[in-house]
Amino acid sequence: MSFLQKYGPWAIITGASSGIGEEYAKQLAPLGFNLILVARRAERLALLAKKLEADYNINCQFIECDLSADGFENTIISATKDLDVRLLINNAGMNIEGDFYRGGLERNLQMTKLNMIAPFILSYHFAKKMAENGGGGIIFTGSISSFKGLPYLTHYAATKAYVLQLAEGMNYEFKDRNVDILCLCPGFTITEMTKGLKKNWMTMEVGPVVKEALEGLGKQSVVIPGFVNKAMIGIEKHFLTRQATTNLNGNLMKKMLPGARKKK
Ligand SMILES: NC(=O)c1ccc[n+]([C@@H]2O[C@H](COP(=O)([O-])OP(=O)(O)OC[C@H]3O[C@@H](n4cnc5c(N)ncnc54)[C@H](OP(=O)(O)O)[C@@H]3O)[C@@H](O)[C@H]2O)c1
Repeated sequence: MSFLQKYGPWAIITGASSGIGEEYAKQLAPLGFNLILVARRAERLALLAKKLEADYNINCQFIECDLSADGFENTIISATKDLDVRLLINNAGMNIEGDFYRGGLERNLQMTKLNMIAPFILSYHFAKKMAENGGGGIIFTGSISSFKGLPYLTHYAATKAYVLQLAEGMNYEFKDRNVDILCLCPGFTITEMTKGLKKNWMTMEVGPVVKEALEGLGKQSVVIPGFVNKAMIGIEKHFLTRQATTNLNGNLMKKMLPGARKKK
């Protein structure tokens, strides 16, 4: 059975207006998937949808939606009610770097809604539909920070730990309902989120990151893309205590984010 037969005909991708989400759209369209692109920047979604429809003879729709807004799911559920969605890519996310109080309470709460609540609600809805319709797949975007306490990205890492555990537990529970669930845990990837970050031995482009996720769906519950990221998490897991891992990463973050202690 092909990837499209197993997880098509429709895929919904959150955070499809840039970065990793846009790349999912660009890799799924040539496989013949019909796509529903979700984000706030409607003009970008409209342009991408138009291009993918023209290039690949697929049906590509978009939904302008703030996934951190209360009741966002009503928009998505009603727009997709007649579509056979078998692949959900829970990818939209935001981060807040620096001192624990940076961003203030409101922005931090917005991050919990976007990074945790929205993927939970969408999975809750679509996993059930997929199971009833014979199967499907869900990919969450975690991070290598899902595996550890990460100072100066403290709250972000905690939100990413949540999706990793959600994905692993759901993958086990939904196996016998024919729904495959995976958490992609990228390291530094060149996107708008990491703007200013120069390419180096630790960074990856979006193409190979997304390719590994799609290849892993149905085979693994967690994908850490790239050799460097796999090695880093492997070393931390097998050779360091959790406390030593956090200390090491805290010292690194202080060097990488010189303004790390500033509250803004
Ligand atoms: N880049 C990295 O190094 C890295 C590493 C590990 C994990 N990740 C994760 O990868 C995912 C994608 O990020 P990216 O790196 O591709 O960054 P990005 O280019 O900034 O993409 C973020 C996407 O999320 C959407 N988004 C943000 N806030 C939203 C909201 N309130 N409602 C709906 N959509 C929203 C954005 O669209 P709009 O602004 O148009 O709404 C955009 O499409 C995130 O979950 C991120 O945490 C990234």
